[in-house]
Order: sequence, then structure tokens, then C-alpha cells
Amino acid sequence: MSTFHYVGDRLCVEQVPLADIAAEIGTPCYVYSRAALVTAYRSFAQALGAQPGLIAYAVKANSNLALLAILADLGAGFDIVSQGELERVLAAGGRPERIVFSGVGKTEAEMRRALTAGIRCFNVESAAELARLNAVAGALGLRAPVSLRVNPDVDARTHPYIATGLKESKFGVPLAEAIAWYREASRFPHLAFIGIDCHIGSQLTELGPFADALDRVLPEVLALRQAGLPLRHVDVGGGLGIRYRDEDPPSVTAYMALIKERLAVHGLQDIELILEPGRAIVGASGALLTRIEYIKETEERRFAITDAGMNDLIRPALYEAWQEVRAVLRRHETPCAYDVVGPVCESADVLGRGRQLAIEPADILAILDAGAYGFAMSSQYNARPRAAEVLVDGARFHVVRTRESYADLMRGERIVREALL
Ligand code: LLP
Repeated sequence: MSTFHYVGDRLCVEQVPLADIAAEIGTPCYVYSRAALVTAYRSFAQALGAQPGLIAYAVKANSNLALLAILADLGAGFDIVSQGELERVLAAGGRPERIVFSGVGKTEAEMRRALTAGIRCFNVESAAELARLNAVAGALGLRAPVSLRVNPDVDARTHPYIATGLKESKFGVPLAEAIAWYREASRFPHLAFIGIDCHIGSQLTELGPFADALDRVLPEVLALRQAGLPLRHVDVGGGLGIRYRDEDPPSVTAYMALIKERLAVHGLQDIELILEPGRAIVGASGALLTRIEYIKETEERRFAITDAGMNDLIRPALYEAWQEVRAVLRRHETPCAYDVVGPVCESADVLGRGRQLAIEPADILAILDAGAYGFAMSSQYNARPRAAEVLVDGARFHVVRTRESYADLMRGERIVREALL
């Protein structure tokens, strides 16, 4: 049974009808299923099995504290890309030794904070970053654990905005260059080179690109080990896709089996394996609830104008992403095609085009598969307070982020009138 399912004509998550949440909390509102999150995390942990390693959830996909705490309690690690994500993980009870720090633009302050917190590894993406980390660690009298993010130059066959593994991308270091740096590790007395990593893109729906990347990187790891550099781990990044519409991504089991097989082929079956899944852990566990404010018919089209817009969920506008739209109350009239659009003053403010729906004004819609890169990418554009977030647990639900108020919108701002200058 999928996470969001009809019981009679009412769309439910776990044992809670979504209409109850919309009535009590209001809309727009993100809803997450604890059970779905736990199941998705466990599928990775179980597939990892006896292999030493870590499932480091990519916090950028959804950084709500309640979700992070659930994952921390399950023993998850975390892949972070900013000090903000680090503070969130620590506040949620995540253990520093299970945190890896990715990203191309780490500041000195971020490095200091992560070093003193004692994180597991920095995924370094340039020569300049390596030098900076060496200096920052030296000044603190510490040795920074480092993995170089290599760019294996493979085509992830995904949307160009979320493909990161081609050589023209800003991410990673060319493999040959990285190998040279590993071999000169002694030039960096305050760094400990403990691993290697690569992340080739997101929403991958085939195993081929993952295999290509591994087959480029793993022989180098073996060579470095044979040359006496004690690399302890391989971090394969994230990127496993989910089914939004008719995609057919590999299962977590098949994905993990491929990785383990490639490790074995390259004689590295004993190495620690780190994964950084984001979307595949949290994507299907969440939906965005929105209310239809108006139905508007023009000569050309029929629009359902909702109270959620591109500021709440930007994926359709930014990537032309398709996410399923379902009516929270199923009506039995004949459906018609609607463009589901938000209230934001931009033509790109579309949540779904040409959707077959039987709806009336004031009905509630659920945009599915919105757990990843939904709330996390939301903004206050058009001075719209950000949505509430709700966690469902069995027959109960809890607000895990209060809807922003109008005071929240203006927090920190000052009016400067001429007389005061
Ligand atoms: N590790 C690194 C270094 C990453 O850059 C990313 C995602 C991940 C892990 C997690 O990837 P995942 O397992 O979630 O595919 N906003 C876009 C996706 C951007 C992904 C950015 N990096 C979207 O909504 O589709």
C-alpha cells in the first residue's frame, strides 16, 4: 500500500485522513509519515547489512528537526552542506562522528565549527579548500579527516540541473588530480586522508551511471592503498531516484547489491561504505496539502488556483518536475483537465499541468512525493509565510513546524527614515 492511500473516498496517511489535518492545521501544510520514513531508512540499513559503513542521510532534502531526530534515533549518519545543517543535526541529537560535510564553498567559520564538533569527515572539492582546511585545522591544533570528492566524468542521465558528475560541473576534482593530491598527502600535515567520495547526480533511475562511476574510482582506491595510503572508506554519494510518475528506479536492494558487487570486483569488499541518500529516504514520505481557492475557466484552459505556490514547492517550476496531485476527498463526478496553479505572480507558478481531477472550490489537494526538496527549498517570495509541517504517527499527528506568522516575515528588518540617518 502506498503511503498516501484512499480509505473509501478519503485520502489518508497511516491512520489519519488528510482532511482532518487540513481542517485543524490549515493549508498549505506539509505532512510526513513517520512509518514511511522509518521504513525507507531501514531499507538502506538492512541492505548495507554486515558491510561496515554508514547511511548518511542528505540533510538538504528535508532538515526538519523532528525527522532528523527520528533518523538519529535509528542510528543514521548525516551528510551536511552548511553550518546550519550541522547545528540542526546536533540539535536533533545526531552524533558528530556520524556526520560528513560536503559542499564546494565551506567557510573558515564552518570548518572551525565542524572540526571542534568532531565530525567524521570533510568531503573536499578543490585545492584551495584543501589548503584552507589544513590551515584552519593547524590553527586549532587538530587534524582534519578528509575525503576528496572526485569527479568521475560520467553522465548521470538525469535533469541537467541535478547532474553533478560531468567534468564541466563545478563539483568535485578530476580523478587524476585527486590521485596526485593523495600521493602528496604529507604536504598537508594537519589533514588525514581517510576516504574518497563521489556524487554524480540526483534522481538517477538506472544503475549504469553508478556502476560507471565506481569502475572509474575504485581501481584508484586500490592503487592508493597499495601505495601505502590508508584509505578507510568509499563514499558513493546519494542520487538514487524515486518513482514520481512512471519512472522505474532500481530498488534499494538492487542498488546496494551493485555497489557491493563492484567493491568485490575491485578487491575492496572490506572497505567502509558511506552512502548519502536524501530523496530515496524522505521523498515518498511527504505530501503538500493545499486548498483550492478558486476555479477559473478561460477559453483555453481550466485552472485550479491553490493556496500553495512555487514558494512552497518549487520543483515543478524549477525542473518541470511532475508530482502527482490527488484530491483529498474523492468525488465521483467525471474528472476534467486542470492546470493546478499557485497565487504567486509568476507564470512559472504551476504545481501540475493538465491534471484530471473532479474538484470544487475549497476542496483540498495533496501533492505527493513532496518529502524531499519540498519545504527545504521553500521561500517567502511574495511575502508568503512558509507552510506548517506535520508529522503523522499511527492515528495521531503533531505539528513539527508552526506556520510562520506575519511577524516572522518581518523579523530582523528595520525601517530607516531620513530623520534618523
Ligand atoms: N550528496 C551530495 C553531495 C549531494 O549534492 C546530494 C544532492 C545528495 C548527496 C543527495 O542526493 P539525493 O539522494 O537526494 O538524490 N533539488 C533537487 C535535487 C538536488 C540534489 C542536490 N544534491 C530536486 O528537487 O530534484
